[in-house]
Amino acid sequence: MNAEQIDAARCEALELIAAAGCDAVLEELRVRFLGRKGMLPEMMKGLKDVPAPARGAAGKAANAFREELTAALAQRRQELSSPAAAAGAEFDASLPGRWRAAGMLHPVSRVIADAVAIFSRMGFVAAEGPDIETAWHNFEALNTPAYHPSLDDTDTFWLADGHLLRTQTSPVQIRVMEKQAPPIRIVTPGRCYRRDTTDATHSANFHQIEGLYVDRNVTLADLKGTLAFFAREMMGPGVKVRFRPHFFPFTEPSVECDFSCHVCGGKGCRVCKNSGWIEIAGAGMVDPRVFEKVGYNPDEWDGYAFGMGVERIAMIKYGVPDIRALYENDVRFLHAF
Ligand code: PHE
Repeated sequence: MNAEQIDAARCEALELIAAAGCDAVLEELRVRFLGRKGMLPEMMKGLKDVPAPARGAAGKAANAFREELTAALAQRRQELSSPAAAAGAEFDASLPGRWRAAGMLHPVSRVIADAVAIFSRMGFVAAEGPDIETAWHNFEALNTPAYHPSLDDTDTFWLADGHLLRTQTSPVQIRVMEKQAPPIRIVTPGRCYRRDTTDATHSANFHQIEGLYVDRNVTLADLKGTLAFFAREMMGPGVKVRFRPHFFPFTEPSVECDFSCHVCGGKGCRVCKNSGWIEIAGAGMVDPRVFEKVGYNPDEWDGYAFGMGVERIAMIKYGVPDIRALYENDVRFLHAF
């Protein structure tokens, strides 16, 4: 036997020993492998026939065979005599199993995980930023001047020290660009806060997934292709995507991006308010002023950005008519997925 064969025999023997159910079987195994006429003495005798260069290794393997089997036999004997093993012997295999409720991902977490997975297949890397932001990251660096209405107390939760609860995930764009040179391809899921009165489609606390792509010669067509691919992967092959002109201070041109309604297939229903479309994301080409704020040369770099509503996607994907259902944590509702 060469070293490899001895090792294989050792593994097999160890498995048999571990599975042995009583002392008699253990004794049988001991005789078979280590006994006077067993496998080990055979091995030792055979060593002289192993060619000299391999003999050392075979000898080592035979020693390991003896030592490990001896230890395993002793250990198994000990296990079989312990009270815990004795209790196991009284285990009634005919008893029915116990059912335990399995945990699961909340629909919002699931949409985030799925979205990050889809974008990562297009080369986007996940990034995160803080919920408590500075006015610089949430507004100023995003080309949103201090007189913009979104800074009002009626829209933004300001903290006493001048910080704020971020109203969008866009500040993470700034944080990443401040630290990193282009090219950039990130998606950043996260919680956002606005002073909105809660109703069926609004919540003061919601989630967005932001995307940022910075490179040379990036166009609006790249943005549309990316969002269309995402829409099909997330909602299914039939979903269509459309852009409508819009305004955001940090993108130019800016668009709002709608998905065709997943519930009625675009024919018009209650969920899409009979329009056949549902607004999912704000997006656009990164405004050169934003590049200037983070020290990128706007003549050299182009980029697109988008920010989409996670709850919106969860609601149409899972047919949830009221956003509040996603926050009440009624387990009967959560288990429906
Ligand atoms: N931050 C915008 C919003 O919350 C969405 C957006 C992100 C728009 C990125 C353009 C680019 O409405």
